[in-house]
Amino acid sequence: MCAMAGRKRSYLDHAATTPVDPAVVEAMLPYFGERWHNPSSIYVEAQLARQAIDESREAVAAAIGALAEEIVFTSSGSESDNLALRGVLAASAQRGRHIVTTAVEHHAVLDTAEQLERDGAELTIVGVEHDGRVDPAVVAAAVRPDTVLVSVMHANNEVGALNDIAAIAAQVHARNPHTAVHTDAVQSATHLGVDVHALGVDLLTLTAHKLYGPRGAGALYVRAGTPLLPQILGGGQEERRRAGTENTPAIVGFAAALRLAAKRRAADVAHERALQARLINELPRRVPLLGITGPRDLGLRLPGSVSAVVAFVEGESILLALDLAGIAASSGSACTTGSVEPSHVLVAMGVPGELARGSLRFTLGRVNTDADVDRLLEVLPPVVARMRALSPVAVEPPPGYLPWLDAPSLALAR
Ligand SMILES: Cc1ncc(COP(=O)(O)O)c(C=O)c1O
Repeated sequence: MCAMAGRKRSYLDHAATTPVDPAVVEAMLPYFGERWHNPSSIYVEAQLARQAIDESREAVAAAIGALAEEIVFTSSGSESDNLALRGVLAASAQRGRHIVTTAVEHHAVLDTAEQLERDGAELTIVGVEHDGRVDPAVVAAAVRPDTVLVSVMHANNEVGALNDIAAIAAQVHARNPHTAVHTDAVQSATHLGVDVHALGVDLLTLTAHKLYGPRGAGALYVRAGTPLLPQILGGGQEERRRAGTENTPAIVGFAAALRLAAKRRAADVAHERALQARLINELPRRVPLLGITGPRDLGLRLPGSVSAVVAFVEGESILLALDLAGIAASSGSACTTGSVEPSHVLVAMGVPGELARGSLRFTLGRVNTDADVDRLLEVLPPVVARMRALSPVAVEPPPGYLPWLDAPSLALAR
């Protein structure tokens, strides 16, 4: 541990949030300073703030192939997800109250859908494959004449599984052209870039803080003509779709971050893929009774995303030890970290509950280097070995664990 003193820490939790890029901070600063006025006011200073929001809206729209008027700025990805589900359902009462979503969505979608069900909506939650991906045909089969919304995430935040949203949207629309298709692209937007027409979606969620922008800025793309009722009422901002005085610095930072992401995408993705491949190949070789979760084919996996389960050790205990050794990582989504329940994503994939408690997630980003990967590969095996040595439980994995473990033998450790 002492050898670590003074060493830079390794941040391997980019799916939780990203550092704000200095160029983004630079772009935001004037709007904390001399351009602080309320963009809805009439005087010239306020109009400068209004202009900045208009330009940001154009930039966010251009980044995803949308029109400026199709972008609703919100405070977060969670708010955008809530607005998509609640707003479409509220506006579609004449046509039906049925919603379809999947068992691996972020809680911003899943909990909202479940609340809507308690409030009288009908809900179908479709399952996923063992790698966390959603079968488009299964989603389409759940669509009924009264289905008003289908919500399927683009990339899973815990296991990096990428969904074929274009196929899902096409099949859903073929079955019911009136069903709106929403995708949560919070995790994918920075790495993959998203184009709403290529994806064929009617609504799409973004958030700035996962793409080197600030917290406090999100957006919901709403295709022109999609029924949507506001869920926050008041001053009528965002063309009456979301009230609240605009967070000008955060919106400007969001647009700046998206522009930067587009410029850097090819280099960032190549870099993250290389580090990701090293971890996915090496972790099972170095840590006995470890299994990589999510797609093994990197083409089906979010760049930079590495997730695993480790048998007979609590993920949380490993994270604390990694933290002491200078590595910041997570056991699933940041929101479920700290909860005693195993991840709903792993459970939906079929991972046995006890094994799911040993889940780890490492998400790499721009700031990482091979040195961060080396450090994790050096630190993790002895941490796991130490914890297993302390544990009184038997370490023969039960048969239910075996399909999930890449390294099913303790002999590796010897
Ligand atoms: C897939 C997904 N959707 C939604 C959210 C929520 O976004 P925000 O933190 O901006 O509310 C997250 C954040 O972890 C996420 O990973």
